[in-house]
Amino acid sequence: MKIDALKALLNEMTTEEKVGQTIQLSADFFSDQSEDITGPMNEMAMTEEKKYQVGSVLGISGAKETIALQKRYMEENRLNIPLLFMADIIHGDHTIFPIPLGLGATWNPDLIKQTAQISAKEASAQGLHVTFSPMVDLVRDPRWGRVMEATGEDKLLNKRYARAFVEGYQGEDLKEDLTKLAACVKHFAGYGAPRGGRDYNSVDLNENTLREHYLPAYQEGIDAGAKLVMTAFNTIDNIPATGNKRLMRDILREEMAFDGVLISDWGAIGELVPHGVAEDNKAAAKQALTAGVDIEMMSAAYSEHLVDLVNQDETLKTLLDESVWNILKLKNDLGLFEQPYRGANETTEKEAVFSNENKQVALTVAEQSIVLLENNGVLPLKKDSKLILTGPLSQSTDLLGAWSWKGNREQTTTLEDAMAAVANPDVFSVIDDRTFLEGQNSFFMDDLRTADTVVVALGESSEMSGEAASRTNIKLPENQLVLLRELKKLNKKVVAVLINGRPLDLSEVVPLVDALVEAWFPGTMGAEAITNILFGKVNPSGKLPMSFPRSVGQIPLTYNEDSTGRPMTEGKRSEKYLSRYLDAENTALYPFGFGRSYTTFEYANLTLSSQKISEDDGLQVSVDVKNTGDVKGLETVQVYLRDKVGEVVRPVKELVDFKQVECAPGESKTITFEITEEQLRYSHADHSVSSDAGTFLIGIGTDSSVTLSASFELEK
Ligand code: GLC
Repeated sequence: MKIDALKALLNEMTTEEKVGQTIQLSADFFSDQSEDITGPMNEMAMTEEKKYQVGSVLGISGAKETIALQKRYMEENRLNIPLLFMADIIHGDHTIFPIPLGLGATWNPDLIKQTAQISAKEASAQGLHVTFSPMVDLVRDPRWGRVMEATGEDKLLNKRYARAFVEGYQGEDLKEDLTKLAACVKHFAGYGAPRGGRDYNSVDLNENTLREHYLPAYQEGIDAGAKLVMTAFNTIDNIPATGNKRLMRDILREEMAFDGVLISDWGAIGELVPHGVAEDNKAAAKQALTAGVDIEMMSAAYSEHLVDLVNQDETLKTLLDESVWNILKLKNDLGLFEQPYRGANETTEKEAVFSNENKQVALTVAEQSIVLLENNGVLPLKKDSKLILTGPLSQSTDLLGAWSWKGNREQTTTLEDAMAAVANPDVFSVIDDRTFLEGQNSFFMDDLRTADTVVVALGESSEMSGEAASRTNIKLPENQLVLLRELKKLNKKVVAVLINGRPLDLSEVVPLVDALVEAWFPGTMGAEAITNILFGKVNPSGKLPMSFPRSVGQIPLTYNEDSTGRPMTEGKRSEKYLSRYLDAENTALYPFGFGRSYTTFEYANLTLSSQKISEDDGLQVSVDVKNTGDVKGLETVQVYLRDKVGEVVRPVKELVDFKQVECAPGESKTITFEITEEQLRYSHADHSVSSDAGTFLIGIGTDSSVTLSASFELEK
């Protein structure tokens, strides 16, 4: 629709119809059983008439269902304004990819973009228009269950992924390309830093840390063209984000130049009341509209009070028009006025959804997401060695994670079946860990006694991570630790495979195993991917996107921490008065960027093209990477910098670039990176972003523990 016609439509709308556009209902409001006005309808101040004025629906799917609803809705809606269909397609629609924390471990943004394209293709064929993804909240606290949805603790990596997801979902032209979805960057802002790692809790971020570490990935998603942003449940500066005018108008809309649709998270406008910043829903509605929230998801403040509020206040009337304009623009950008059913098509749906080519990509992504944490040579498994599989997750289909939308566990292979399809049946057997623990059953004991290697599948259930799933104890469940201790007594090679949604405290696990494989919730093809890694068909290349602590007592823990005035450095180990613990190292058990391979890589000849750079002239830094092992391997070469002196404290190191390189055994390659003045800019005390002249340390290595062994000067 042309802009003038859209403006004319806005002017033709009554206040009730405008308010209707700002309301989002869940799909069940439109299913047959919700015709009578009970429960949710009352809570949402809904009537049959108002129901056909709402602007959007969340959680519906299926070509047949969306076409039928859109048809019925358009017949009822006076101005024929089409509904927007939105849903949580977080890491796959029917074909489920690894959880985003696992996607983060691939360090392969191009591959992540491909997963987003596939997700969009499957979801759009079912009639969806918007996905509530990517979640780009930076995370430093594995007690928080939603770290599984994040891509990690580093802003650069999160920026690369934010762009990859948005470009993958949205493509080049949402109006013409009906296989794409509008993306929604979330949760603005700082949701990943709740006090105590407890979901929905307050957030204590100073503005410099918010701007330096947390905002960049949202900004990248917005710069990539994301059509929506979702508000966060938490407070910022002790004001709930959803009612925080400065955060949403001054920072998000003005500074970050976001001009799309701002949607509340589920019930977040109504939650301004229990937050204690709004007397009632009427005050909450006024606060949220003033803050610029365009759509209210599943609470009743707007539907109950907005008509009265705007009729009493011209300023609010103008704000309502702005919000409705944003919503109509989004519908127009999606081409819904011309094609209200958009990509919904039962034939396309059958072809696109859960196709073999989609599953092949899911396999590749899962393989690249797996991180080898320990291996004393027991991996890859020898096919003719006697192998036992056990553990509570060995026969589990719970591999999809907590946000797996239409992922179907019945279509998910277990590790037992995937390994049985590859292993030599004469030397492969499965033991139920409960049987083993209960009776040390003689039959099984014979099997175990003659085994060479035991693979044990451990980790979390998907309910133990995700939303509203924070844990104070991030160890493996006690029964799993008991199993490991008992297996250790058998004096066999033990390979632990972890299927989980967060960095765990593995300090007690490491001495009990000969190999340790982090597989996250690996998705539809996860069991096949784990099997390909265990038997060496694929050489693991994953690198941790988030630090694994030695203990929950270290949290929040991140590689790019501040130095402090009393840094604990190697040479000072005997000194007392330093920033350190009495009972643990400061360092992570496994640091950000860490991941082993079945081969080894040697770094040499770190070379700078110059000892100084300026705003106009950057420098090249290169290193030789050699595969010193006997199998081909993919290495993620990481560049870290330290700004020695800043106006505010600067991280002890920060990732500034990375590249992946594949080397055959014995092969050496020179990897070169450009370093520019722009990469040295940071948020100053007055929140301006610029670089300072001075000394910068630099290092290139296989993970964030790299020594920054060279330096250069920035001259201004
Ligand atoms: C949930 C989540 C949000 C999700 C929304 C819709 O509470 O916080 O990430 O997109 O509600 O399901």
